[in-house]
Amino acid sequence: MSRAAAVVLVALAACGESALFGPPTEATCPPGSTSTWDSFGQAFMTRYCTRCHARALTGADRHGAPSFHDFDTVFGVRAVRAHIDETSAAGPAAVNTSMPPDGERPSMAERLQLGEWLACQAP
Ligand code: HEC
Repeated sequence: MSRAAAVVLVALAACGESALFGPPTEATCPPGSTSTWDSFGQAFMTRYCTRCHARALTGADRHGAPSFHDFDTVFGVRAVRAHIDETSAAGPAAVNTSMPPDGERPSMAERLQLGEWLACQAP
């Protein structure tokens, strides 16, 4: 891990769970990336996010998840791509883990893949 990333991790740990947004991960799209909505994004969002962030959910069923942050379609993901990066993804500059707030958490490998997929514009 780079020294910068270590400093970021320490800073985030000091803030505790209340820091919703971390810094941009600065992940880059790897040449020849094969991650797409069909091969990666949809399964990731369904497993970790859409129990709160989905268009069909209203009121208390959203568990506090804000409106217009719905990840049951790739369009919903693309609309807030930077915010997903700053809450859920990993990359050279940051490891952001404020989402999901509870339940099953993505592995580091999955967060890194998320960062790269988002950096590829979420194809
Ligand atoms: C248990 C319900 C739940 C799950 C699961 C969940 N979230 Fe959230 N999400 C929330 C809540 C509640 C907030 C508002 C938090 C706040 O304002 O402090 C939020 C906020 C966000 C925001 C910031 C919205 C803004 O204001 O711009 C993003 C982005 C986000 N979530 C992405 C995700 C992603 C990506 C996943 C899956 C990896 C995920 N969330 C999983 C409940 C959830």
